[in-house]
Amino acid sequence: MKLEEIKNISVLGAGIMGHGIAQSFLMGGYPVMLYDIQQTILDNAKAHIEKNLGLFSQSDLIKKQDIELSLQRLSTTVDLRHAVEESDFIVEAVPEDLSLKQDLFEQVESFCRKDAIIASNTSSLTMGEIGMRVKKRERLVVTHWFNPPHIVPTVEVVKSMWTSEETLNTAYKLLEKIKKMPVKIRQELPGFIVNRIQMALAREVLDLYEKGVASAEDIDKAVKGSIGFRLASIGPLLTMDLGGVKLWLAVFENLLPQIQSSTEPPKALQQLVSQGHDGVKSGKGFYDYTVDFSQAGLDKAIQKRDQEFLNRLKSLYWE
Ligand SMILES: NC(=O)c1ccc[n+]([C@@H]2O[C@H](COP(=O)([O-])OP(=O)(O)OC[C@H]3O[C@@H](n4cnc5c(N)ncnc54)[C@H](O)[C@@H]3O)[C@@H](O)[C@H]2O)c1
Repeated sequence: MKLEEIKNISVLGAGIMGHGIAQSFLMGGYPVMLYDIQQTILDNAKAHIEKNLGLFSQSDLIKKQDIELSLQRLSTTVDLRHAVEESDFIVEAVPEDLSLKQDLFEQVESFCRKDAIIASNTSSLTMGEIGMRVKKRERLVVTHWFNPPHIVPTVEVVKSMWTSEETLNTAYKLLEKIKKMPVKIRQELPGFIVNRIQMALAREVLDLYEKGVASAEDIDKAVKGSIGFRLASIGPLLTMDLGGVKLWLAVFENLLPQIQSSTEPPKALQQLVSQGHDGVKSGKGFYDYTVDFSQAGLDKAIQKRDQEFLNRLKSLYWE
């Protein structure tokens, strides 16, 4: 299917990722059918989308009248056939459970158009596994969004063993059209690109923390104000070119034997989890959230994070 043929979008699963993915397509001008297993979940998702459209408008990323126009383009349903029968591009964002996704993909194919593209937002499964029971597999593709998906620009578009070039290109162009920053990944490797890089960074961060080299606040501050500051504007490879490739080689030779290379999950995380801690969800992680551990307090923290992200988004590339 070509980009011009895509008129209707469906998003399956209206949780953390699904409602934000739906919002991105709505802001991009597409009608979206949002599907979940309970109407209350859909009503909640709609309320979140409305609130988040408000934040986009307050940040001048969309016009005030676009809030209402976007909401008018949104439909919700608990009927899967109704959710996908008119759709040209279907994004699955249900829980990360292989058999659930396999069942859903099989059912979706029985209800949707024969040429509709079906994308999965899976973080860790392969389309090779998810799409096993689908008959027309060249229309399957992974589009991996990042939380919060209505704000974070990059979407990894992954070519599975079955994805056709046309499907890959259409998914890529569609995401570009709605002002996301898609990247094509030509092999379905675990963790795609971003999670692999993120894990490599996190392994060293947690090792430094475990060794007591610096406090959690100082480690976060060091990353935020240096590599984080730089990487928000230029990528790591351009950073190497600008700093000098010879210098990078010398630093690698000196530091590589000194830094963490374990294949075990970091002890600092294992310890927190075994003590029943889960970050903001439980009130304690690397920081203590028990001072204001109300839903209102958490909502405020997320709103502050999103406002900072929106300011960044605006300065990055929004027209
Ligand atoms: N949360 C993240 O940061 C993140 C980031 C990238 C990718 N992902 C991936 O996105 C997918 C969704 O994750 P999430 O965090 O939004 O999960 P979530 O639990 O917040 O939302 C999943 C939604 O799917 C619904 N659901 C459950 N069974 C369903 C079914 N049979 N049909 C339709 N809907 C059903 C649930 O009611 C829920 O609303 C997962 O594959 C996850 O790995 C998550």
